[in-house]
Amino acid sequence: MSFKGFKRSIEEGDTVILYLTIHQIYSIKAETKTLSKKGTLVENVFQTPYGALKCGTLIGKEFGTKVNLSKGWGYVLQPSPELWTITLPHRTQIIYTPDISMILLQLELSPGSNIIESGTGSGSLSHALIRAVKPHGHLYTFDFHEQRVQTAKSEFKDHGLSDWVTVVHRDVCNFGFGEDLDKKIDAVFLDLPLPWLAIANAQKTIKDVGGRLCSFSPCIEQVQKSCLVLSKLGFQEIQTLEVLQTQYSVQTRSMGTLDIDFVKMKKDNQMPDKKDKEIIRTITCIPPNSQPGHTGFLTFATLPPLWARSIELSSNSE
Ligand SMILES: C[S@@+](CC[C@H](N)C(=O)[O-])C[C@H]1O[C@@H](n2cnc3c(N)ncnc32)[C@H](O)[C@@H]1O
Repeated sequence: MSFKGFKRSIEEGDTVILYLTIHQIYSIKAETKTLSKKGTLVENVFQTPYGALKCGTLIGKEFGTKVNLSKGWGYVLQPSPELWTITLPHRTQIIYTPDISMILLQLELSPGSNIIESGTGSGSLSHALIRAVKPHGHLYTFDFHEQRVQTAKSEFKDHGLSDWVTVVHRDVCNFGFGEDLDKKIDAVFLDLPLPWLAIANAQKTIKDVGGRLCSFSPCIEQVQKSCLVLSKLGFQEIQTLEVLQTQYSVQTRSMGTLDIDFVKMKKDNQMPDKKDKEIIRTITCIPPNSQPGHTGFLTFATLPPLWARSIELSSNSE
């Protein structure tokens, strides 16, 4: 699947994933020409450890095709949110796939959901959110950094996603999400340095039937402040968790197998006419030498339906 849907052949301007090895994956543009640092149009050539690729030669090729580089070869793949996350140009810290999968599940997103995200940052999470809510839902993504807003807008346009996303330049802690979104939103996601300052504004946007909120924070002090505000504002089911992924490596290895008959015969002082160990080649599953480190804490909470909120608040005040 490309960002928008299945596509067979590469057209001029398409974003293409160039796959060389599991650790050498790049996103490139299928364009014949590109702007040089001096502002002149030059041939678009992408340099890899296995030599150069003239990006214009990809136009007309089918996705999945093997392509020749000057000193090797690779495959050209359709882009997806997962591949974009590992190849995108970083403008900020980004959210990675293990956290993204938990966010999509816990926010209960489905096609048709309306979701708010802040900050947009490098748009890593945004691509996964758009895929989860399209074709009938919408992502409203906010950032107070003007350049990042412009770059995200042009990336979404390039990827054919503009129909499902609105990018807004705003400080959501001080100015909220805008009255237009009041009571229209199913779920809110915050990746901000001071998320607790945006929670009351986020609450206003959630539908009367209730909704979910998630805040991603690297530090536990941020989590503590956010949880206190969530609780005070009547959010329930407040839960903080950390996603630690263990990735096993599948490899074919030579291994010795113990011959039980031989062990038994040896115990009985009989000497069989064969070796005690046979070496076989077999598929193995190797645990990692080191575990990926902490990315951040994910705090989830539910805003109950309006009728339940008033009961809850009145019972709290008694
Ligand atoms: C860590 S980045 C978000 C990365 C994003 N989740 C991703 O996966 O690419 C945090 C972003 O929040 C923005 N930001 C910080 N405070 C903000 C505020 N008060 N209002 C809007 N955006 C804010 C920053 O400009 C930055 O781009």
